[in-house]
Amino acid sequence: MSLRSELSRRFGDAFAALGLDRSYGEVVVSQRPDLAQYQVNGALAAAKSAGRPPREIAEAVVERVAGDDVAELSVAGPGFINITVADETLARHVAALADEVGSARSEPSRRILIDYGGPNISKALHAGHLRSAIIGDALKRLFRVLGHDVVGDIHLGDWGMPIGQLIVALELRRPDLPYFDPEYTGPYPDEPPVDIDELSELYPWIVRRCRDDAELADRARRATLELQRGREGYVALWRHFLTVSLAAQRRDFDALGIDFDLWYGESTVRDRLEPMVERLVAAGVAVESEGALIVEVAEPDDAKEVPPLLLTRSDGSYLYTTTDLATVELRAEEGYDVVLYVVDHRQSLHLEQVFRAARKAGIAPPDMVLEHVAFGTLNGPDGRPFKTREGGVLLLSDLIALVEDAARRRLEDADLAQDYPEEERERIAHQVGIAALKFGDLANHRLSSYVFDLDRFTSFEGKTGPYLQYGAVRMKSILRKAEERELRPGPILAPEVDRERALMLTLVELPDVLARAAELRAPNHVADLAYRLAGDFNRFYEACHVLREEDPKRQASWLGLVETTLRSTTLLLDLLGIEVPERM
Ligand code: ARG
Repeated sequence: MSLRSELSRRFGDAFAALGLDRSYGEVVVSQRPDLAQYQVNGALAAAKSAGRPPREIAEAVVERVAGDDVAELSVAGPGFINITVADETLARHVAALADEVGSARSEPSRRILIDYGGPNISKALHAGHLRSAIIGDALKRLFRVLGHDVVGDIHLGDWGMPIGQLIVALELRRPDLPYFDPEYTGPYPDEPPVDIDELSELYPWIVRRCRDDAELADRARRATLELQRGREGYVALWRHFLTVSLAAQRRDFDALGIDFDLWYGESTVRDRLEPMVERLVAAGVAVESEGALIVEVAEPDDAKEVPPLLLTRSDGSYLYTTTDLATVELRAEEGYDVVLYVVDHRQSLHLEQVFRAARKAGIAPPDMVLEHVAFGTLNGPDGRPFKTREGGVLLLSDLIALVEDAARRRLEDADLAQDYPEEERERIAHQVGIAALKFGDLANHRLSSYVFDLDRFTSFEGKTGPYLQYGAVRMKSILRKAEERELRPGPILAPEVDRERALMLTLVELPDVLARAAELRAPNHVADLAYRLAGDFNRFYEACHVLREEDPKRQASWLGLVETTLRSTTLLLDLLGIEVPERM
């Protein structure tokens, strides 16, 4: 149990003994570290229900809690309780830290599915895909470390109108391909008729043309319908589109160090669509409206109007909403307790409609959590969504090359890794570049939009990924030097120096911060702790000359502290998807 929760329990007991709610005993990290390490503010709120002055309650609580493990308790102002824990207690918690992280497992473990990444096929990944991938991956790692059973699903966009549009686009360009000939009975060629470059170029081209040409748009709709009804040539073509784009997208996700347990897509549920729609009609949940089928999802106390969900178009074709609803059905059957949709905030209405329809239709059991984990936009220096200088979308592979180049220059400027073998230097440049990219994203709360600032993100100073990597590498090198002198980490002793104590206090926050980050689905709390640890460590190392210390017990304890800080930092960075090089 974390130090803070242990204290909370004791204070909770004290409030309970006074006949007050134990939740008043909640201990928080002090806002005024100069006055106390922790505080309890519950006496003020308790005073109202108890009809007693808050100071009196606070004093009664303090009297009950006083003991060996707290060094100092005092009542301040109208009834705040200030807490300073005993140094021995603090040291004990630092020593137990390795188990602490695992002990968050005591909460009930849940089956969680995280839906993230979500590119549409036909597209090479671009900057717009970055946030969902990075945030979703971080959440997956976080929930896993907390002991949950977590599955990541990419949920490809592979069964809607874009495919119909692509079919029509290719037919316009190469009408003689067998896929378009209704008389042709196969077999279809094994070789894809397009590569990813052509596919990525075809898609925006046809979207633009369909916008100006109603007849063409209609043709794309018909092609979508025919694909969904199983027209063989179209299905064969769809398979090619899928293979070609998956190969390219996998490469980009690999480069980011992001993977998925399930490579499902909209098409995974294609056989569920018709029976589901029929069931919803029979149950009266789906109703006809101007030839289409809709599900009313408005609720009486909606502040904003929530329009009905469009279940099928008037031609009977299925949409993004239809496949999303059927995917909820699949996930419910597979027994997930919680499904997190890590999707751009602009899709909140779509998801709200899907979630409501799933409840209304009984597709999602009442206790299954369906939650939109929304995020803001990645902006360019002009404050608008990130584009290339020419105004096009920036490919993810180009973006990765960009951060790697910048990392290479930074390493050169800082004279780091310069005399290492080429291969190692390149690997480090890649790791630093990816750290810059991911930390630059995850340091922000997911809902805030942020500006992609290559210069700042790749700097070895400030709140950046490379700064934290460098810090961890430095800790490794300290431990290596100690090792060379046959000095080993030993039991953690009670702190004697302020900066040592400060580092320990930050370290013991680890389990609480992980729990909070998970609860709020907010990896920025993880990023923030990693950054605070780095600062505390630097100040500690400045004041405490670990390698030169003369008292062997103290020195071993300090080495233990270095090791614990390294382990914690490595864990926190790993949760953000950031690797720590062996040396730099
Ligand atoms: N393919 C979608 C898009 O590109 C994102 C999918 C998100 N997940 C979901 N279950 N809707 O916008």
